[in-house]
Amino acid sequence: MPSECVFGAQWGDEGKGKIIDRLAVGADYVVRYQGGANAGHTVVVGDEKFVLHLIPSGILHPGKINVVGNGVALDPEALLSELDGLLERGVKVDGTNLRVSASAHVIFDHHRLMDNLAEKWKGEGKIGTTGRGIGPCYADKASRTGVRIGDLLDADRLAPLLKAAMDEKNAWITTVHGEESIDFDAQLKRFLALGDRLRPFVGDVGGEVRRANREGKSILFEGAQGALLDIDHGTYPYVTSSNTGTAGIAAGAGFPANQIGGAYGIAKAYCTRVGEGPFPTEDHGDQGQKLRDEGNEYGATTGRPRRCGWFDAIATQFTCDINGATGLIVTNLDVLSAFDTLRIGIGYSAGGQKLEGYPAGLVDLEDIEVNYEDHEGWDEDITAVRKWDDLPAKAQAYVERLEALVGTPIVMLSVGPERDQIIPRGLEA
Ligand code: GDP
Ligand code: IMO
Ligand code: MG
Repeated sequence: MPSECVFGAQWGDEGKGKIIDRLAVGADYVVRYQGGANAGHTVVVGDEKFVLHLIPSGILHPGKINVVGNGVALDPEALLSELDGLLERGVKVDGTNLRVSASAHVIFDHHRLMDNLAEKWKGEGKIGTTGRGIGPCYADKASRTGVRIGDLLDADRLAPLLKAAMDEKNAWITTVHGEESIDFDAQLKRFLALGDRLRPFVGDVGGEVRRANREGKSILFEGAQGALLDIDHGTYPYVTSSNTGTAGIAAGAGFPANQIGGAYGIAKAYCTRVGEGPFPTEDHGDQGQKLRDEGNEYGATTGRPRRCGWFDAIATQFTCDINGATGLIVTNLDVLSAFDTLRIGIGYSAGGQKLEGYPAGLVDLEDIEVNYEDHEGWDEDITAVRKWDDLPAKAQAYVERLEALVGTPIVMLSVGPERDQIIPRGLEA
């Protein structure tokens, strides 16, 4: 396997963690390149469930090198507590199988506080962020006032950088928001201690991954969030603050763009979204609630109920197109066994006019009307099916229809949260 990537083809929580864990079997490296602890990637191994936020989803396989790239907004405390949780459960994590970029930007307490204060300030217009400090950290990066992981390793370097950053943030916190300022000395001491613990993991990981690529090792890039939450191409401003798809890899991992091979988009057989913002195929009625119940659709990071609705073929065609998807992997197909009728969003209209494809911000997606195609459901339990030929004909027809509408080959299906609940359809793992 050359270098490949997995990205979310909807609004996040598509089941990337499960698929990455599965594809990691054939990889030498698993690399996160954007986002931060806003992500919650679930991997189920037997009776055990792991929710990974910052540590790549290859960590459960011995011998794989897991890399947190420079493009990640890294909360050191979140990373270390995740690491401790894995160690307690007997998973080996040390400086040989977890590598962290010295250039990743640090999330401090003021970033998390500013994230929550900005949401409060926006009131009704809030984004519905995860409150993990992601937006403010990337804002500092772009403003050139950020502090990077490598800076935590040297007290003389960190002190003036953090002082400058905190003086400005404390002015905002106290003057604009009328909240208490954050104590600089305590913050400096805590982050130096965190830096000390991180030291064995930190390095020029971009160089390590490029070298591995030159040596013919296989590299799997792990996208977080989903393409419709992409800062440039998502449903702005209701997005996250990074480039979530293939475009984020070159910048966020220090990896040459022309070396990225296969790109697998992950999409649920229906659709969910957490937080605010447009969701054209959302079902506000009992079918939406039933999707939430049957799919256990509650956020892996914040526990918030996910908004639920039907597969949006227009939006998914757009996300596969913009990310150059070589294959689509459809998850949670098993959840649909509970439904008599399945809907697929096949077209958009606005003001009575049919639109050509996905509007990419040209019209307000909130006011869009969706044209649906209804499909008869199947009622067989498919969680034990492992071969395409053993799926009920109606399930096959549904998948084939998704494939035709999106225009990208569906290379794998997932029929349950566990590692082995996979139906290969071209892509073996
Ligand atoms: P991620 O953020 O894309 O990694 O996805 P999450 O872990 O946030 O959410 C996906 C949820 O669906 C998790 O609870 C998974 O255990 C679960 N899951 C993954 N694949 C399947 C599947 O094929 N069927 C069912 N029923 N659940 C799945
Ligand atoms: P994974 O990797 C689903 C959403 C938040 C909010 C918006 C901005 O598990 O798929 P942020 O905290 O990033 O500033 O929030 O993005 N969001 C996610 N939704 N899955 C995620 O990650 C998400 N990460 C952020 O709910 O709407
Ligand atoms: Mg998730």
